[in-house]
Amino acid sequence: MTGTSFISINEAIKKKKGKIAIRGWIYRERGSNKFKFLVIRDSTNLIQVVLKKEKFKKQWKEIDALQIEASIEVEGTIKEDKRAPIGFEVQAEKIKIIGKSDNFPIQKDQSTEFLLDNRHLWIRSRKMVSIMKIRSTVFQALREYFNNLGYYEFHSPSISSVAESGQELFEVKYYNHKLFLSQTWQFHAEAAMYGLEKIYTIAPSFRAEKSKTTRHLSEYWHTEVEAAWMNLDELMDLGEGTVKHVLKRVLEKNKKELKILNRDTNILKKYLTKKWPRITYDKALKLLKEKKKMKILWGKDLRTIEEDKLTQIYGLPVFITHYPKKEMAFYKPRDPKTPKTSICFDLIVPEGWCELIGGSERDTNIKELKKSLKAIKEKLENYRWYLDINKYGAIPHAGFGLGTERLIAWICKLDSVKDAIGFPRTMLRYSP
Ligand code: 4AD
Ligand code: MG
Repeated sequence: MTGTSFISINEAIKKKKGKIAIRGWIYRERGSNKFKFLVIRDSTNLIQVVLKKEKFKKQWKEIDALQIEASIEVEGTIKEDKRAPIGFEVQAEKIKIIGKSDNFPIQKDQSTEFLLDNRHLWIRSRKMVSIMKIRSTVFQALREYFNNLGYYEFHSPSISSVAESGQELFEVKYYNHKLFLSQTWQFHAEAAMYGLEKIYTIAPSFRAEKSKTTRHLSEYWHTEVEAAWMNLDELMDLGEGTVKHVLKRVLEKNKKELKILNRDTNILKKYLTKKWPRITYDKALKLLKEKKKMKILWGKDLRTIEEDKLTQIYGLPVFITHYPKKEMAFYKPRDPKTPKTSICFDLIVPEGWCELIGGSERDTNIKELKKSLKAIKEKLENYRWYLDINKYGAIPHAGFGLGTERLIAWICKLDSVKDAIGFPRTMLRYSP
């Protein structure tokens, strides 16, 4: 239908009546010997189109053979219809079949694994489209938040020679060297912070995670910030502000998508209205013992189940600070007031999602840094340039990293972080 000006389904619905031309894919179809009912989808909405056999005598055979996911163009008249699923219906006057579809493999009630194997097709589903729209809002809101606070967007290399823990590395054959895909933007960011002071990024991080959990990806989008002169409390303010801003934007912009996903938005609104508690690791152990009868040996990292219990106590996201120094990444500084702990936090979130952000002040004491690196058997020469930064006008600074897919999965209440990204990468899943 050359020369026709097509509008989106949402625009057609806004018009309420009159002639319209739309195009999209068949979402559902059923027929009788007099009519064909097609539900058409585009990126904006769904609408039912009715075709009368007597109007389309010549084309009827191909219309009758239309299957789900075929693409079509339709011209017709839109009108309100209380019985139609979204309250409107189009009486078709012209139809053009653009792309046929033969036995679309995804039918109702298919297993999660099947849907993952067919993600290249499942990505069109209402569920995935809704999540991807929310994902887009999340990225936009993150950038908006940091930009408004005067942060610069800064980029680190994705191929790196420095890391925080050796077990999770993806090796890269880099000419004659063995390097790896970067786990974090942080190290180069700390160097850049000395020029730009306030910086952030949203970029892929790579972790060769052996664990097959619902919270781990091998490639995830890592939102990271680094700021000069910042202390732990200010850093937690920034983390809370970031997540709350994103929540606010998604609640404003994605009502429809949250509804499609069956998300209880009252819970999300509650997270917005209250200040999130901040407790030390010591207090967390005490609470777990007193309220949940869980005894944890001091020095052990908290497991997901324990983090989940803690968020249940408050019904809110919770900051846990001052974890045992010996369990922590080498750059997290010792707290002189409680020397067995470090000046760091994790933000854990309710509803089974647990660790969403990890952050800390940064150690600038070269001696301490060397000691910590040796303790984890890192080669000091690889960290030469990182240690060098602190020789010239070192200042207190801090930063955090947020798992963007975990944030999306938490907001949408997804079963797995794998649904928060278009094409997930895990130990077992590298295709499509
Ligand atoms: O706690 P992590 O490992 O911290 C860092 O990498 C710091 N260098 C960040 C910084 O201070 N700039 O990772 C930060 C966050 C975690 O809290 C978690 O939400 C997410 O990244 N994350 C993952 N998300 C998905 N899949 C994985 N395999 C993840 N590993 C960490
Ligand atoms: Mg962490």
